[in-house]
Amino acid sequence: MNSPLIWAHRGASGYAPENTLPAFKLAADMGADGVELDVQLTKDNVIVVCHDERIDRTSNGAGFIRDYTLKELKEFDFSNGNGAFEGTKIPTMEEVFDLLEPTGLTINIELKTGEYFYPGLEEAIVDLTRKKGWMDRVIFSSFNHYSIIKIKELAPEAKVGFLYADGTLNMPGYAAENQVDALHPAFYNLQYPDYMADCNMFDIDVNVWTVNSEKDLLTCRDMGVNAVITNYPKKAIEIYSR
Ligand code: G3P
Ligand code: MG
Repeated sequence: MNSPLIWAHRGASGYAPENTLPAFKLAADMGADGVELDVQLTKDNVIVVCHDERIDRTSNGAGFIRDYTLKELKEFDFSNGNGAFEGTKIPTMEEVFDLLEPTGLTINIELKTGEYFYPGLEEAIVDLTRKKGWMDRVIFSSFNHYSIIKIKELAPEAKVGFLYADGTLNMPGYAAENQVDALHPAFYNLQYPDYMADCNMFDIDVNVWTVNSEKDLLTCRDMGVNAVITNYPKKAIEIYSR
């Protein structure tokens, strides 16, 4: 049986502060196939990697990313209370590309354009991905499907996926109609009737989040999903290699 690809959610975030260079390095060292990360735009239009629109939860600072310049954001500590990683800074997207360049890893770039649309983010991420020569190793995803359609318009060669959560009708048909490459469902969406069969019929990859328990990892393998997005890539590798 083929095992799913293993993509480290916010880097190897079960072992290091989420969405930081150490978490991405650890994912590569552990043998993950890829990393998932979240992008936002600073006040001076630099793409940075952070899950929340605000820095309060993951740093020793407070406020919105969009109200800070990159230089100001770099003053904060993003070790998120983990003493072993004290002094870790917020990474730019460019720094992550450079870090992972020597590896064969895939990057799933999630555009955080849900609450705030960050005008220009789609153009900026396409430009940067092209400039760094990463277009064939990236898949773009977002809960904001307008963002994904825009990425596709800007870069027809880009691989893209729709993120979604609860109980939407006929997602495989919707994905096919909008010509995206993949669906990124929350794990529990796998239980809807004929889900995998319909995705297979439309040739839609299924990349599932956030799959952390042994039971869920094994279910994903049994169902034949393309990738699991997990906080624990080391654990997933061990389970899939048994
Ligand atoms: O991309 C998968 C997953 O990261 C989506 O949810 O909130 O963890 O970004 P969230
Ligand atoms: Mg995410």
